Amino acid sequence: MAARSFLFVLGSSRAGGNTETLARIAAEQLPPDTEQRWLALRDHPLPDFEDLRHPERRHVQPSGNAETLLRATLEATDVVIASPLYWYSVSSVTKRYLDHWSGWLETPGADFRRRMAGKNLWGVTALADEDPAVAEPLAGTLRISAEYLGMRWGGVLLGNGSKPGDVLADTAAVTRAKTFFS
Ligand SMILES: Cc1cc2nc3c(=O)[nH]c(=O)nc-3n(C[C@H](O)[C@H](O)[C@H](O)COP(=O)(O)O)c2cc1C
Repeated sequence: MAARSFLFVLGSSRAGGNTETLARIAAEQLPPDTEQRWLALRDHPLPDFEDLRHPERRHVQPSGNAETLLRATLEATDVVIASPLYWYSVSSVTKRYLDHWSGWLETPGADFRRRMAGKNLWGVTALADEDPAVAEPLAGTLRISAEYLGMRWGGVLLGNGSKPGDVLADTAAVTRAKTFFS
């Protein structure tokens, strides 16, 4: 059995963007016995999230893409949220994935809260702005979500770029990527 198992959740609305490029550079440095699974949310669209907690709990067993993502999330030791910076936070499909975590907390048999505790949560993002401080809302969202679930927060890897490939010119980000998971 592999010691670690990384799930890369890709939240860009386009394939081959800067966020994915940066995440793949970081992943290249993972030890060979580390499992990697890559799931693009644009290829696994989740249904609109509906809050069914109140007044009485109604449970919907996840199916289709939701079941795939739930299983992949639970099976990972490390969850990497690789979302571009959209309006200073995570992309809408990434936010929807996180909203579904609230549903999965209630899913009978999933034991979501207990099984998420102790996993590592990491963030990777690309942004067009030269000022990395504008990504603080994204970093805060992920860091505090990790705390809420008792996950270990690994931090966020930031890269600069607008069009696909730009991030490769951000040499500081590429250098950081090479040790990000170590
Ligand atoms: C809907 C949308 C919102 C964006 N919001 C921001 C933003 O708030 N700050 C920023 O610096 N760049 C913003 N950008 C630029 C992207 O973060 C940038 O192009 C990034 O490289 C996209 O990542 P990707 O190539 O992985 O898709 C936005 C782009 C889009 C399409």
